[in-house]
Amino acid sequence: MNRLTSPYRCHLFICGNDRQGARKSCADGGAGPAIKDILKDQVAARGWKGPVRVSQSGCLGLCERGPNVMIYPQGLWFSAVTPADADAILAEVEKLLKG
Ligand code: FES
Repeated sequence: MNRLTSPYRCHLFICGNDRQGARKSCADGGAGPAIKDILKDQVAARGWKGPVRVSQSGCLGLCERGPNVMIYPQGLWFSAVTPADADAILAEVEKLLKG
């Protein structure tokens, strides 16, 4: 095993867990994957690939508050996210990159 520090300034995790309606999950209605696609496209369009990574995750544990997005290592969480919130999340990432 090699112990490393993260190669990313910001790593966005977007829950894409889908329980197929058995109980609430972040992929209900396609929300989580849609948010991930927007964030991934925008990170590439803004030239942030390299310092910023966007990954779809499994369940983050706050399912009732979803869809959930978290940013590490800063430890920021966004809940009840919709695709319309992507610009606000990207504005937070921009602040982190400048900070
Ligand atoms: S299903 Fe997304 S946090 Fe659990």
